[in-house]
Amino acid sequence: MENTLLLLSLLLLLLLVPSSAQMPGFVSLDCGGEEFFTDDLGLNWSPDELRYGETSFIEVLNETRKQYTSLRHFPADSRKYCYTMNVTSRTRYLLRATFLYGNFDSNNVYPKFDISVGATHWSTIVISDANTIEMIELIFLATSPTVSVCLSNATTGQPFISTLELRQFNGSVYYTDYEQQFYLSVSARINFGADSEDPVRYPDDPFDRIWLSDSIKKANYLVDIAAGTKKVATKLPIDVNRDDLPPQKVMQTAVVGTNGSLTYRLNLDGFPGTGWAVTYFAEIEDLAPDESRKFRLVLPGNPELSKAIVNIEENAQGKYRLYEPGFTNLSLPFVLSFRFGKTSDSTRGPLLNAMEINKYLEKTDGSQDGAAIASFIAQYSSADWAQEGGDPCLPVPWSWVECNSDAQPRIVKIKLSSMNLTGNIPSDLTKLSGLVELWLDGNSLTGPIPDFSGCVDLKIIHLENNQLSGGLPSSLMDLPSLKELYVQNNLLSGTIPSGLDDKVAMNYTGNINLREGRRNGSRRNIIIGTTVGAAVLIIATIASCILLRKGKKKYHEQDKLSHPLPVQRLESNKNDAPTEAAHCFTHSEIEEATRKFEKKIGSGGFGVVYYGKTKDGKEIAVKVLTSNSFQGKREFSNEVTLLSRIHHRNLVQFLGYCQEDGRSMLVYEFMHNGTLKEHLYGPLTHEQRINWIKRLEIAEDAAKGIEYLHTGCVPAIIHRDLKSSNILIDKNMRAKVSDFGLSKLAVDGASHVSSIVRGTVGYLDPEYYISQQLTDKSDVYSFGVILLELISGQEAISNENFGVNCRNIVQWAKLHIESGDIQGIIDPSLHDEYDIQSMWKIAEKALMCVQAHGYMRPSISEVLKEIQDAILMERGAAAARDGNSDDTSKNSIHSSLNLGSLDLGGNDNYLSLDESIVRPTAR
Ligand SMILES: *[C@@H]1O[C@H](CO)[C@@H](O)[C@H](O)[C@H]1NC(C)=O
Ligand SMILES: *[C@@H]1O[C@H](CO)[C@@H](O)[C@H](O)[C@H]1NC(C)=O
Ligand SMILES: *[C@@H]1O[C@H](CO)[C@@H](O)[C@H](O)[C@H]1NC(C)=O
Ligand SMILES: *[C@@H]1O[C@H](CO)[C@@H](O)[C@H](O)[C@H]1NC(C)=O
Ligand SMILES: *[C@@H]1O[C@H](CO)[C@@H](O)[C@H](O)[C@H]1NC(C)=O
Ligand SMILES: *[C@@H]1O[C@H](CO)[C@@H](O)[C@H](O)[C@H]1NC(C)=O
Ligand SMILES: *[C@@H]1O[C@H](CO)[C@@H](O)[C@H](O)[C@H]1NC(C)=O
Repeated sequence: MENTLLLLSLLLLLLLVPSSAQMPGFVSLDCGGEEFFTDDLGLNWSPDELRYGETSFIEVLNETRKQYTSLRHFPADSRKYCYTMNVTSRTRYLLRATFLYGNFDSNNVYPKFDISVGATHWSTIVISDANTIEMIELIFLATSPTVSVCLSNATTGQPFISTLELRQFNGSVYYTDYEQQFYLSVSARINFGADSEDPVRYPDDPFDRIWLSDSIKKANYLVDIAAGTKKVATKLPIDVNRDDLPPQKVMQTAVVGTNGSLTYRLNLDGFPGTGWAVTYFAEIEDLAPDESRKFRLVLPGNPELSKAIVNIEENAQGKYRLYEPGFTNLSLPFVLSFRFGKTSDSTRGPLLNAMEINKYLEKTDGSQDGAAIASFIAQYSSADWAQEGGDPCLPVPWSWVECNSDAQPRIVKIKLSSMNLTGNIPSDLTKLSGLVELWLDGNSLTGPIPDFSGCVDLKIIHLENNQLSGGLPSSLMDLPSLKELYVQNNLLSGTIPSGLDDKVAMNYTGNINLREGRRNGSRRNIIIGTTVGAAVLIIATIASCILLRKGKKKYHEQDKLSHPLPVQRLESNKNDAPTEAAHCFTHSEIEEATRKFEKKIGSGGFGVVYYGKTKDGKEIAVKVLTSNSFQGKREFSNEVTLLSRIHHRNLVQFLGYCQEDGRSMLVYEFMHNGTLKEHLYGPLTHEQRINWIKRLEIAEDAAKGIEYLHTGCVPAIIHRDLKSSNILIDKNMRAKVSDFGLSKLAVDGASHVSSIVRGTVGYLDPEYYISQQLTDKSDVYSFGVILLELISGQEAISNENFGVNCRNIVQWAKLHIESGDIQGIIDPSLHDEYDIQSMWKIAEKALMCVQAHGYMRPSISEVLKEIQDAILMERGAAAARDGNSDDTSKNSIHSSLNLGSLDLGGNDNYLSLDESIVRPTAR
């Protein structure tokens, strides 16, 4: 009977899951396994096929899943053992590793060891039961084509692993502002009101997240539950298509605090620390018209967080729809107690469908020599020593490498004696600028000795017993620290640079054609000359290091976790008195600050802007609105209160408002460096036009601000009037978007649908103009126009600059870009100081942004990603330009691109380019 049931459900599963159902970007490695198979869920497993370690087979009571019958274990030594998996760069993934000990070594010593992702320590695995699966999960943004997971540092037992899984996310699922510097380590993902103890996962969750049931019994897991807590469930569909796309099945169940409270306590793995915490709500009970459900979160010690009132139906804008409020930067304890309590005017108790808590795990920078050494080992892809994987230095170095203890270590020793190396000595080794010892003796290396003058610390070189030919390079004289040089038994010829054998201990016997140089009077000069040369070199190296550090630091500061950034929920609670309000300035305060509106600094569609300085010295910009159509003071202050809740470092900060004598004013922080427009083609700085990298950074900043409006605010805010004069530049030349949220103020009344098309000619989305249907893609159109301005330094509309019959930058740029002539539109004031590839990247994206139809345009997140890619490219290219000014590679890229490696000839090509784009998710 049971068997037939099992068979039936298997059949059902097979029916539900077509054999090709495997999601893209899923990798399921059965560590130590021997064959490919598909499990009951429809996931395709493959054997891990690693060169290292040994496999074991285990039997564990109650665990019949095939992937748990095998494991791979490694020696408990000082090495690391790595899996390297292919990923798609700039895509987010869930990485899951599991460990089922099963007493594989018959020792019954529970292993304890470390696991790292690249150079970053991920977790310490501590086995505490032979028959229990340990599982860890990490959410990360792939920044390179591979990710490596390494086991090391066994303190008891042997390191081992049962499965390793990669699940790819799409769109902006799990996007965080800090993803360049931090991983998200999954701590809790709970399905409340679950109908069984089984987790919900694939195929109910297309990303195969594992949503644990709230009814499993574990120590310190969901205890202290309030009396009156009831499960509720629905079979009706739920609209989950926003934010982090929780599975519908999870949202169809919930718990309700029928006595007014929901309380829980649980231990959070990995905490205390800074975390990302969200709750998932959907109203799945049918409330009578006179009923309401309103509640607050109560976190002990965190009264600030308790202010917001959750009203699911209102917040989600409907029943059976997802509402996902949360905190993207919250300090949490290891023992978390929380309570949801109903407000006094609510008739129903709180409801909770699911929640998720992740901890920020700071990424460790890998070795500075990562790129050079990767390119070196790529030439020996079949050798075992080149397959160790992970970072060359961290958390422990490769077996043939030694590193220094810098925060970002450098390789100081390479020991590849007698490793059967053939071919020339790869020039990548000469890029290891911290190298002190090089051992390549006893191989079959041929060709010349390369120029090691970039490795100024080199002390010991072993090249003996190879087949090296050519002369001893005179650059060896330039190495200030060189003490020992062994080149005996090679095929070297010519003369030994004079003075070399005085300076260093050498052995060059057995090189038949190598002769001692003549010693003559010029020797002194050579030494002096080379010393000066070396000094110059050292200074140059130091200078470039300082430059590099500076650049690096800046990047860090800019993206560091700075202040708490909860997802903004903007609905005002109409029945409650507002708990926070925008600061209300008096008219006299404003008059005093602006010295009676003395200095006008701008004007726009919404009014005139004046400079001011408050009593406490803060510089402000006061916008006097022209429109007088607000329905009274209350309406205005309500809208303005919403505005004041929008905070982002790439949005101009709103400080307050003033409404007296029928005049409405808005007060903002003052931005010292004016508008982007002025920097591109205003009278301001004709000589010092901003360079390309700066333009890219401004685009990045602005895109981040817009992304926040589109995805970080609920309901999303559509700017409607993006243009280069609405992008302001601060003291530090960082950009912020201004005038957001105003369009809502400027149209009359409470209606959300405007009958008046707003926007600025040249930036206005033609589709919106025709249909009057406003979407976030209208902003994307305007942003595309701004990108074209950044490329070309041309205004959006011009009667002269675009030739006959063309007044508008979009038409003009399209014509040029589509015929492959990008040079024709690049701002001449950029001279040649840009990388053509980053320029192409932005140009292509800009054209996609200005596609005729909204659905063809990328989301702003997508555009942001592209800009960030372009910045990386540009920085790399700039470094190369600076390092090697007579580099010709740029020109060769020019021609190869123009010769059609990017064929932009046809009008419809953009459609096919567009296919690779991840569709945006609405938030
Ligand atoms: C195995 O499963 C049975 C039935 O579900 C349960 O009673 C038993 O406790 C389980 N044993 C272990 C070791 O988990
Ligand atoms: C990973 O990518 C490399 C290079 O593209 C390819 O050679 C290799 O087969 C890929 N490995 C897997 C497991 O797909
Ligand atoms: C190895 O693990 C021990 C104990 O878990 C820890 O104290 C030590 O710092 C670790 N060593 C490295 C190199 O991570
Ligand atoms: C829950 O509320 C009901 C009705 O108010 C009351 O009878 C019951 O005692 C309460 N239960 C607890 C445990 O507080
Ligand atoms: C080098 O090659 C020889 C002969 O093919 C082989 O026996 C030896 O194991 C190789 N050594 C290494 C380190 O690969
Ligand atoms: C130099 O190398 C040769 C060959 O390996 C060896 O016989 C000789 O002893 C070495 N000379 C010195 C001074 O080390
Ligand atoms: C992301 O994945 C979800 C679930 O498979 C799907 O519904 C949605 O269309 C996907 N979005 C994109 C942009 O691919």
